Amino acid sequence: RALADSAVAARAAAHAPYSEYRVGAALLCADGTVVVGCNVENASYGLTICAERNAVFAAVASGERRFTAVAVATEDGGSPCGACRQVLREFCPPPKDRRFQVLLVDGEGRIKARRTLAELLPDSFGPERLGKPRRRR
Ligand code: THU
Repeated sequence: RALADSAVAARAAAHAPYSEYRVGAALLCADGTVVVGCNVENASYGLTICAERNAVFAAVASGERRFTAVAVATEDGGSPCGACRQVLREFCPPPKDRRFQVLLVDGEGRIKARRTLAELLPDSFGPERLGKPRRRR
């Protein structure tokens, strides 16, 4: 509930003058911290960044890489785009992706659906494929 409310609050900061599709994301970290993001569009359209990726990048920049859930608030309870699913997956590899919760929230804060990351991105590609040693930080 609190995470959904944080996503709605973050949505108010969205910069979306082109699509007018405002998105807020609230990412729950393993230590209980909540990091928010909103979509930030640009007159050079391709430079737009989604709310979910903004939240993940801000969290990583603050030293957090262990995530347990994200709430995404849009007008209609829309689901994260493929790029954002992949970025979340970078930090939530299987089998953790089966526990990571994605709350789809509408503009009034109603939780319209609840998914796991594994449901949203099955058979995913990740860093393990590259054969790199796992680094904690
Ligand atoms: N958007 C997000 O912020 N997250 C998503 O998962 C889907 C799309 C943004 C990008 C753009 O600013 C607007 O929504 C319309 O695509």
